[in-house]
Amino acid sequence: MSEAESYKEQESRLIFRPMKLQDIPEVMEIEHEAFTMPWTAEAFRNELTHNHFAKYMVMELDGRIIGYAGMWAIVDEAHVTNIALLQMFRGRKWGERLMDELMKTAVQVGMKSITLEVRVSNEVAQNLYRKKGFRPAGTRRGYYSDNREDALIMWADLPAYEEPGVMEGRVDYP
Ligand SMILES: CC(C)(COP(=O)(O)OP(=O)(O)OC[C@H]1O[C@@H](n2cnc3c(N)ncnc32)[C@H](O)[C@@H]1OP(=O)(O)O)[C@@H](O)C(=O)NCCC(=O)NCCS
Repeated sequence: MSEAESYKEQESRLIFRPMKLQDIPEVMEIEHEAFTMPWTAEAFRNELTHNHFAKYMVMELDGRIIGYAGMWAIVDEAHVTNIALLQMFRGRKWGERLMDELMKTAVQVGMKSITLEVRVSNEVAQNLYRKKGFRPAGTRRGYYSDNREDALIMWADLPAYEEPGVMEGRVDYP
């Protein structure tokens, strides 16, 4: 089987589901690998338990969490808070799959548009967002406190999706 065929075969086994408190240790591994200013486990815990605007999902392959994404759904605008994949699984269009699921879920919970901030140097993420219909709408100067890097603000209108996202059932956090 070629590498591309093997990725396709694995892709059919990807599962998207709401994030639970028990997922946080695995999510933290990805968070630390992906970001220079990682969120703390406590920040994720607060998001899941106290922030009623927050919607977080994980992407699993054979029982292992390999990516996650989250947003705040406020009125009819979704604000993406984070999206990341374990490095070894990047470049297979699975980040795009995850973004699709996040956007589908945003529509499912009544959002009409979606916005995010991204480092001006993060071309991979910006390319993904452009591909999904996001367009630049300004910058926040010195937004990232580690290196004073600017953030590019991007917005997209959300399309209509046939299928629902992953938030169909209510998640009960223990
Ligand atoms: C951003 C991220 C989720 C994208 O997932 P990915 O698996 O790397 O990307 P995909 O394979 O799904 O590719 C989707 C699109 O992203 C862009 N992209 C992906 N890899 C790229 C690369 N090496 N160079 C340039 N653009 C790239 C392309 O537009 C691509 O679509 P295309 O191949 O049809 O042109 C992932 O790279 C990641 O976790 N990065 C670290 C965390 C991060 O930066 N998150 C965003 C914070 S705002």
